[in-house]
Amino acid sequence: MSEVKVPFYGHVRQYQNLKAELDSAIENVLMSGVYTLGPVGKRFEGELAQYMGMKYALGLNSGTDALWLAFLALGIGKGDEVITTSNTFWATAESIWLVGATPVFVDCCPKTRNIDTTKIEEKITPRTKAIVPVHLYGQCADMKAVSAIAKKHNLLVVEDCAQAIGAAGDGFKIGEYSDAVGLSFITAKNLGTFGDSGAMVTNREDIVETVTKLRNHGSNKRSYHSVGWNSRLDEIHAAILSVKLKHIDEFNDARRARAKDYDEFLAGSGIKLPHALPGYRHVYHLYVIETPDRDGLQEFLKERGIIALTNYPVAIHQQEGFPFGAGDPNPVLPETELNAANCLSLPIYPELTREECKYVADNVLEWAKNR
Ligand SMILES: Cc1ncc(COP(=O)(O)O)c(C=O)c1O
Repeated sequence: MSEVKVPFYGHVRQYQNLKAELDSAIENVLMSGVYTLGPVGKRFEGELAQYMGMKYALGLNSGTDALWLAFLALGIGKGDEVITTSNTFWATAESIWLVGATPVFVDCCPKTRNIDTTKIEEKITPRTKAIVPVHLYGQCADMKAVSAIAKKHNLLVVEDCAQAIGAAGDGFKIGEYSDAVGLSFITAKNLGTFGDSGAMVTNREDIVETVTKLRNHGSNKRSYHSVGWNSRLDEIHAAILSVKLKHIDEFNDARRARAKDYDEFLAGSGIKLPHALPGYRHVYHLYVIETPDRDGLQEFLKERGIIALTNYPVAIHQQEGFPFGAGDPNPVLPETELNAANCLSLPIYPELTREECKYVADNVLEWAKNR
């Protein structure tokens, strides 16, 4: 393989840019002697809730735990069906299976690749308990439509916002129309720590105490337990997240600027580009293009030192690990399967330069011209 000219991630660049702030925040935690469930985590939860414009935020081990514990606290469980999408990261469905419920997949919209809200109602049965829209690639699903359907059928709504902190819809914000929101802070996310962590945010006071207990071995009083789990956000990650949260809007603005560059450079290429809905704030966790010879393009870019990856080339219902008997393994999802076959994520991160974008786009154009 040729030398990497444009990596897929900018993790180290981001660390270098914020090194002084991050090193000092980490050192302060190390010197405090308190490493879990301490004041730094508490402060971060307050900052996060405020940023999201929501009442409560609870720091957790991961985005998967955020969804899973929200489902548990909301009483979603065995025998329930949960409507979601299949063109997402495995954890969206995994967290539904973890509570014993069954994911029911709705196809995605041909343009945005978010849940096709016109197809939700046909999947509702007497067992349907909740809808879990995923704000895929950094763009909000149509929450007004989801909420209208949920209200009509008396369903819970949990937003999988792992990819979209800082995004907003057309006249609505994340969390406004749902019972809970799950966030992931793995390194690659728009707000990412160095490793794993996540958070659940909600306006519902009644689930906060349950999740607070669940994340700490079912305990809110030392030595007294019910069955829970260990899903505490540790202080070092909270300190890192606190520093980065201050920069999230500028990170997202930089992603949006690079997406605009790609849009400009790739216009007229004949390749399907991301579709940003008017009035929405898309925060481009991923910049996903679609072409039938996706593998050919990926290989061509690799030869030119550009790392492009795929999100998600195997939809959930296409996975070999789909648990036997845990839902329909053969749903009819033509748009989801098309997306899986054709998707290619170009490098995008706040530290990517316009020149690097141009280099990537020039190579995509060269490939498209010579096909
Ligand atoms: C859409 C989506 N849902 C859920 C998750 C799970 O988050 P985590 O990896 O923090 O458990 C991720 C991220 O990995 C994701 O992208």
